[in-house]
Parts: sequence; C-alpha cells; structure tokens
Amino acid sequence: MTSSTLKFMSTEREDAQTATDITGTADIGVTGLAVMGSNIARNFARRGYTVAVHNRSTGKTDALLNEHGSDGDFVRTESIAEFAAALNSPRRALVMVQAGAPTDAVIDALADVFDEGDIIIDGGNALYTDTIRREKAMAERGIRFIGAGISGGEEGALEGPSIMPGGPASSYEVVGPMLESISAKVDGTPCCTHIGDDGSGHFVKMVHNGIEYSDMQLIGEAYHLLRGVAGIEPGPMAEVFRDWNTGELDSYLIEITAEVLAQVDADTGGPLVDVIVDRAGQKGTGRWTVKSALDLGVPVTGIAEAVFARALSSSVPQREAGKSLPSGTVSTPSEAGAEFVEDVRKALYASKIIAYAQGFDQITAASTEHGWDIARGDLATIWRGGCIIRAKFLNHIREAYAQNPELPTLLAAPYFAEALADCVDSWRRVVTTAVTAGIPAPGFSAALAYYDGLRTDRLPAALIQGQRDFFGAHTYLRTDRDGSFHTLWSGDRSEVRA
Ligand code: 6PG
Repeated sequence: MTSSTLKFMSTEREDAQTATDITGTADIGVTGLAVMGSNIARNFARRGYTVAVHNRSTGKTDALLNEHGSDGDFVRTESIAEFAAALNSPRRALVMVQAGAPTDAVIDALADVFDEGDIIIDGGNALYTDTIRREKAMAERGIRFIGAGISGGEEGALEGPSIMPGGPASSYEVVGPMLESISAKVDGTPCCTHIGDDGSGHFVKMVHNGIEYSDMQLIGEAYHLLRGVAGIEPGPMAEVFRDWNTGELDSYLIEITAEVLAQVDADTGGPLVDVIVDRAGQKGTGRWTVKSALDLGVPVTGIAEAVFARALSSSVPQREAGKSLPSGTVSTPSEAGAEFVEDVRKALYASKIIAYAQGFDQITAASTEHGWDIARGDLATIWRGGCIIRAKFLNHIREAYAQNPELPTLLAAPYFAEALADCVDSWRRVVTTAVTAGIPAPGFSAALAYYDGLRTDRLPAALIQGQRDFFGAHTYLRTDRDGSFHTLWSGDRSEVRA
C-alpha cells in the first residue's frame, strides 16, 4: 500500500483519513475529474460501486472527496500507478479528459500500467477516427478499449446520462451492466446499449451532437420569427414554448428554451437573452458531423446550416460590414397571431423530423461503410432519456424502425409521412414569411428544400449530368436504356456508348 492509496468509505468519512489497503478493491476508476468526470464518478458511487478516482492534479480529487465523499465509496489515488493498483481485475477505467492529445496521453499512461484484458473506456467527445485508431493500438497491446459517447451535460452525468459505447461486444459484456446501471432509464429501459465495433459509439455521439446543433438552430429561428414577425417578447414567448412542450415537440431543448427566455437579467431588469452577445460558440462536434457527411456523401443540410449559422453569427467583421446592406422591400404580415404561432410550431416540428432523418441516414451510411451493423431503433431508444436531444418523439422513431428495420428514410415511415403532411402548408407559409420579412431562417428553408428535393420526380441533376458530359466527357445514364453514354458535343453531336 502506498501512502496516498486511501479508501474513503462512506461510514468512516467523518474521520476520512483512515487508511486501509485498498489494492484491487475498486470496481471502476474514473480519471479526469472536471465536472463531467466528477459527476460520473459520483453516479457510480451512488449506485453502490467502489470508485477509484484520479486527476492529474490532486486538487480536483480532494475537492470531489471533500464535497461529495458521502455519495458512496471512493478510493483516492494520486498517480496512475496507484489508480491501476486500486482497481480489481479486469481493471475498468473511464477516461474523462479533453478530446485529442490529452486523451492520448492518459490512454498511453494507463496502457503502461494495465495488464492484458483490462479495459479502458474513453467517455469524452472523441473524434471517432481517433477511437478507431486507439482501439486498434490498444488491441495490439492486449488491452480492451471502448469509445463511449456520453451525453447529458453535468446534470445527466450525475443523474443518468445517455451512453453510447462502441468496441468489441465481449468487452461490452464486462462493463455494459455498470454503464447501464448509471444511465438514465425510460420506462425501465436503460439509455445505454452496445452500439457496434471500434469508433461506432463516438460516431453516433457525434451525429447526436449534429442533431443537437440542428435542433437548437431551428428553435432559434422559431424564436426569431415569433419575435420579429409576431412581436412576442421573451417573457410571453417562454409560455409559448412551455405550451409547445406539452405536445409533439415535448423535449429537453424546448423545455430549457422556455427557461432561458423567462430569465430576467438582474442588472437591466430586461430579458437575459437581450444582453447575451449573439455569437454562438462551438467546440467542434457539429463541424465533425458535417465533414464526415461530406465524405460519406450524405446530405445533412439541417446540421450543416446549423454549423454555418453559428459561424455566421461569429463572423464579426462581415456582420459589421453587412449591417449597411439594403434589405430590399420587406414586409411582415398585417396579422401574425395564434395562427402564425401554430404555423411556426409546425414548421419547427417538420424541420426537426428532417434533421433526425438526415442524421439517421448518416449513421446508416457509416454503419455500412465500417460494418458496424448499428440498430437504428436502439439509438432512438437510448436517446429518449438522459441526453441533450431527448424528446418524446424519439418513441415514434423507435416504433418506425421496429416496424421496418430497413426503412430507407425516416420520412417514409407512416407516422412521419402523416406528420409532414399535416405540417407542410404551415412550413411553406413560415419560410415564405421569413423570406418576405427578411429574417434568416436557413434551417427551416434547407429542411423544406430537402423535403421538396426528395419529393421531386425529375431533378435538375439531369441537366448537370449533361453539363458534365459537355465539358468533361463525364458520360451520363439514360432513362430508357442501360449503359453509359456520351454526346460528341464538339463533333456532330451524335451520341455514342461510353
Ligand atoms: C451532450 C452535449 C455535450 C456538449 C457539446 C456541445 O451531449 O452532453 O452535446 O457533448 O454540450 O460539447 O458543445 P458545443 O455546442 O460547444 O459544440
């Protein structure tokens, strides 16, 4: 036993300096004790697990133990070696550090002190390609690696997040029950399931975040239109969102939107939202989602517009210069009352369905490319609780995939086709109003354009193929014959088989 390897039992916390040999006594370890890591460690402890805790600087470890040591049984460790020694076999360690180089550093340090068969779980927002690389590198050293997406923010980490673990199924069998026990539960079902091999868990978490971006952007556009067209101020608008939260739109993001809108700034006495600088930040997961979608060739236009809208909001010099640009003739409807509010609600719901449909398409494409065999209905199931995009309507996604696991698009499921049919007129009116009022609504419009694109029998892509053949002899297919064709554009313009 080393001097710093102390076990803090809840019963003896009053005189917490009691030291016992704790070698191999912890069920799980958490390294990286910023808010997310600390809260997950507390969540494990509250579920009855003995949790070894470690942080690069011991200040955070001590703060956790001093403030929340009574949550359960913790084992305080100072070095990675002590941390490893405290864990029972096979060792299970959850890494909760910043994505990128810091994660690599901790994983390598753990691998140096772990034995064959021990398990490292990366619970950060890692880029899935990093997870694929790490899983491979660890497998070569005999160490089992799980890349687990964890969503829910600080509160979810403590009370029950949604967890998306990827890695070998045999590794999930060892840690799955523990992860499921700390996850959120909806109707008794854990919001945690094995996603697939290597980077699948982090991939799915990345798309979750992309959908989160899209959902937030759409809510932002609804707010902008309700305020700019219907003149509803933030306080009363909070009530609109509260009302929406009792129906189809029932979701965490709608719920917190009402909270934010209702918040009064102590200094000015006005709405807090009016004193927050209108430049949205981003840590990168939305951008990663779009980059991956570009590589996969999947149109995630709702997510892309959301990422670009954040970028536009932060384009300070361009916005400054843009302020003097002419609006042209703009007008708002003379009446924008309850009917307009209902139109916006429907436009929001329809656009949200598109965002999910696109995100699930991206997951389908990646699952095929990487051989992950992701069960899409399971994702809808584990996103119903704990995570940021948790929403009542995920139940309908779950049912849609249960009825038809091979659905080509979510929009083809009867429930969603009917929901869109119910919303489409409102949706068109809202996009039209946004355009005539000069209010940017890229999320609503891109979603509607995607919907119309899928509906359209003959797209102008035929003309694009003709253009490509004209300047680059790229050939085209014909609607009435098999094979590839080329027109001799600079010759006699007859057609030849390519
Ligand atoms: C979650 C969140 C979480 C976080 C992201 C978003 O699922 O718990 O998505 O991962 O809030 O980092 O951050 P940005 O908006 O800063 O990109």
